[in-house]
Formats: sequence, C-alpha cells, structure tokens
Amino acid sequence: MAFIPEDKLLEIKDAASIEEVVGQYVKLTQKGKNLLGLCPFHADTAPSFTVAPEKGIFHCFGCGAGGNVFSFLMQYHRLSFPEAVQELARRYGIPLTLKELGPEGAQQAKKRATAYDANTAAAAFYAATLASSEGAPGRAYLAKRGLTPEIIRAFQLGYAPEAWDTLSRHFQKRGIPLELAQEVGLLAPRTHGGFYDRFRGRIIFPIFDRHNRVIAFGGRTIGDGEPKYLNSPESLLYSKGRTLYGLPQAAEALRATGVALVVEGYLDLIALQVQGIGNVVATLGTALTREQVRLLKSLADKVVLVYDGDAAGAKAMKRAFPLFAQENLPVRALPLPGGMDPDDYARAHGVELFRTAWDSAQPWFSYLLEDLIINYGLDVEGRVKIFEELRPYLQAITDPVEQDLWLKSAGRRLGVDEGVLRKSLTSLAPISATRLDPRAKLAVSLEKALIRWVLSHPEAVTLEELEEWAGEFINLELKGLLALIITSYKEHGRVDHGLLVQQATGETQRQRICALTLEEDESGGLSVDFLAADWRRDLHIRRLKKARAQLKERLKTAASVEGDDLLALSQEIDRQLDHLKSRST
Ligand code: CTP
Ligand code: MN
Repeated sequence: MAFIPEDKLLEIKDAASIEEVVGQYVKLTQKGKNLLGLCPFHADTAPSFTVAPEKGIFHCFGCGAGGNVFSFLMQYHRLSFPEAVQELARRYGIPLTLKELGPEGAQQAKKRATAYDANTAAAAFYAATLASSEGAPGRAYLAKRGLTPEIIRAFQLGYAPEAWDTLSRHFQKRGIPLELAQEVGLLAPRTHGGFYDRFRGRIIFPIFDRHNRVIAFGGRTIGDGEPKYLNSPESLLYSKGRTLYGLPQAAEALRATGVALVVEGYLDLIALQVQGIGNVVATLGTALTREQVRLLKSLADKVVLVYDGDAAGAKAMKRAFPLFAQENLPVRALPLPGGMDPDDYARAHGVELFRTAWDSAQPWFSYLLEDLIINYGLDVEGRVKIFEELRPYLQAITDPVEQDLWLKSAGRRLGVDEGVLRKSLTSLAPISATRLDPRAKLAVSLEKALIRWVLSHPEAVTLEELEEWAGEFINLELKGLLALIITSYKEHGRVDHGLLVQQATGETQRQRICALTLEEDESGGLSVDFLAADWRRDLHIRRLKKARAQLKERLKTAASVEGDDLLALSQEIDRQLDHLKSRST
C-alpha cells in the first residue's frame, strides 16, 4: 500500500458514497438496508452482488469479490490503489497533494502526467503540421473524403510528416523524455541507440478519453501503403478494449438523445459527424468488449450497432449481442445494404436513416434470428441448427422477462413448442447461472460466527471481550482477522468496515471481511450473548480436554501415591466434561 495518510483515506472514503460510485456502473435495487445488483466481476444471472452503504463495503455471493469503494474502482477500471484514491478525490473535490500520495503514488502520478503531456504535445504538433505546407497531402486527402476544417479542428486531426525524426527532435527541444514517448508508442527505438518517429506520412486521429485527454493515436496512410492503419500500442494511458473513439465529441448528443450509435471506423464516425449526427462512437477496429459495453451503458440508455454491411460486419454485431444481453443494455442492429459502411451510405443517401436509427433498426434478437434463418433455412435440420445457435444467446439474457419474450418469439417463428424450447434451454444452463449458496460455502464454526457478529454489530462487543476471544482462537486466519479488528478498534474507537477493508493484509482477507459482514446481514443472526456463551463453553471443554490429556501423560510415569491424586483429578475433569456436554446438547 502506498503511504497515503489514513485520515486522508478516511476523508475520501466517507465523502465518496459507495452506492453512488457503484451505482454508476451497476444497476442497484434496495433490499433491506443493503442494495443488490448483477455482479460486474463475473457473468452473473441472479443478482448476487451486495452493497452495504452503512458499512461502505460490497460483496458478491457468487464470485467472492469484495472490498470498499477504492477496491471497487481498482477492480472495475483496473486501476492501481493510488490511482483509485486520486480518481475519487478528484470526483468528490477533496484536495490531495502529491506528497500525500506517497513516494510511489507520486512517482506514478507524475509519470502519467508527463505521458499525457507527451501525447498532448504530439497531437498539437501533428495538427500544426497538417495546417502547414508539409501537410498539403494530408489536407488534400481529407478534403477528398469530405471533411471540413471545422470537423478537422473538432477532432484535432493531424498529419505526421514523411520523415524519421521530426517528432523526436520536437520533443527533444521541448524537454519531453523520449523514453516515455517510446513507452506510449510515439517513438520507436533505433537498433544502435536513439529513437525514430513511429507515425510517418499518415493522417493522425488522436484518441481521447472521456475527460478529453489524449490517450493514443491512429494513423491512416493516404496512399495504398500497408498497414492501412497504424495504431498506438496498449500503454500506461491506453487500453483499446476499454476505449471508444469519439467520446468527448459525442458527449452532448449522447446526453440529449440517450441513444448511442456504434460504428467500426474512425472515418465512419467522422462522416456522420460531418453531416450533423453527433451521438456516435466507434470501436477501434476490434471486437466489442464487455468493458466497452459498460462504458456505453454509462453514456446512453440504448445502443444501435451500425457496422459495415458485409459478412464481417454482421459477424461482429452477432458477437457483440451477448455482451449487451448480459449487461442488460438494450441494443439493436442497423444493417446497411450492399456491403456499404456508414461513410459510404451517408455519402450516397444522406444521414436521415441515422437520425432515426433506433426506430429504423431491428431488435437484436430478431436480427439474429432472421440472419440464422437465411443461413440455415426453415427445414427441420435448419431449425434444429438455428436453435442450437440461439441457445447461448438466450442464456446470456439476464432479464427474465426479456428472455421469456424472445423465447416465445423464437418458438413462433421456428414453429417449435415454446415449452420444449424452454426445457432444452434450462437443461443445459451454464454453470455460472447457478447461484452459490452463501451459507453452504462456509463451515459453521463458532469462531466464524463470532467474527460475523462482531463485524455486523461491533457496538455490542467490548474491546476486552474481543481480546479475550483473540487469545483463544484456533483458526489462524480468523485469529488474524480478529487481531486486525482489535487494532482498528483501538485506533479509531469503533469498527469502520470500509477502513478495515483498507487495512486488510491482502485480497483474501479483504474479501473475507466483506463476506463475513454481509452473510450476517443476510442471516439476521443469533444474539452475541448466546454465541459467546456457546463459545466459552466450547473453550472450557477444549481446556479440560487438554488438561486431561496432560494428566494421562503424567499418569504413565507417576508413582502410586501421586497417581491416585491424578486419577481423582482426571475423574473430576470427566465429570465436568459430561456436565458441559449435556448442557450444550
Ligand atoms: N483498423 C485498424 N487497423 C487496420 C484496419 C482497420 O485499426 N489495419 C480499424 C480502424 O479503427 C478503422 C476500423 O478498423 O477505422 C475500420 O476499418 P476500415 O473499415 O478498413 O477503415 P475505415 O475507417 O472505414 O477507413 P476507410 O474508409 O478509409 O477505408
Ligand atoms: Mn470506410
């Protein structure tokens, strides 16, 4: 853990309400004092994901994930701890100095800031080049593709000159570290030392994140050069699978319409933007990922996929559907005729179709079903094949109502009894769909029960009591956990779950704390007096047994007089044990 002062952590943690942060990514519904939703960390079909706002923690009964608001952001966005803390401090307006971030965190933050600077400087450099005499070939190409100067400016398009060292010399002059520029993929190392420019003789598309920071670049040839596009590699700033192109430019239109059009290419997106269709984002030329679907979910209520009107485009849309079904985000497909892409179509027919995209598009399941019918035909063999292909899609649908409706629709269209379809669907249900019984996962031991109790009713137990227990716990893991609770209790005069999670020694302990806390919430629990009494009796029995065992050892070597005494003692112990055991049954 980085050295962020604990009171600072507490301040940020308390300002950032966990239900609000998690709620941005997971649809939560109230259940008692906790909130319930579909787990974002595994393919969840029955809501297993619990958020406890009062305690500031979350726990999934399905996959065991758990933690506080920092751990959630770390896992969801794959951030480091200092990054998650910084992000929340920023969101909730709590000042956090580099010093407070600690040496490790400060260094990381500084490196990222410099990397952003390098990208910003590169984007400015490429844009200036496009506007200069050197940029003439680039301007000519973009004009040919119908791009206006306003659009070129709005997307900060640029041109990388046909040379080996213009960017690296520019960076050198501006004092931007070249190694870092290499790390983000702007420069490449020469075999005998030094660097050369990675993008040469290409139109440059800066890729922005939702906060309008340049995180990567795409570069298109203006001739027939290969590859057609050269893109930045994954870096400390860029993860392709978690990014969508055109986010800041689309933000306002997305908010206004609630519908996101998803296209495949940079130029498809820009062609639509040129004609005033603003609510559009682009994948970066690869299969849509779960993270991208989640990102979409935070941007819009509905999504229309507008991929190229060829076999590859259809295949890519079909691959994306289950992700939408799992994330419960409504999606439709807008197939374009005759192998056209959105750019071709907009040029040939204008953008009216895209203005009414949601209404013009087909619900994803109908699109899929009709596509399969064209492929396999409606004879018996075809229909069997079609249902086989539909099955995983139907299983991916998390909303039971939606699943039911599509099942019925498939039954009608294929002429198969709906009940038969349903049966064959559930007979092969994926394992991930079965919710694990939270109680069955845990051996019921008194120690565990006590810790559960302490975690959910910390006010009911005194520090002295806790210390008494801690001395006698057998299970080392639970003993360690209790020690942690005691330390935290002593330091802060109370048990703060969100903080406890932060103080945990590792992921296992963190998850354990959340699991034990929320299991108690689920069960309602016994009273602590009852549990503690049981535990004391159990402890007493253990001690007596131990004493008896020691006596037996001594008896083996004892002289006869002493032996009589020992024997009497042993009998007394047996009597007490019998008494205790009869009480506990
Ligand atoms: N792409 C890529 N690398 C390639 C080819 C494509 O990264 N070698 C990505 C780009 O993001 C591109 C998208 O896939 O925008 C779609 O590819 P394509 O349809 O070939 O490109 P367009 O953007 O349509 O470009 P153009 O219209 O100029 O052919
Ligand atoms: Mn194209």
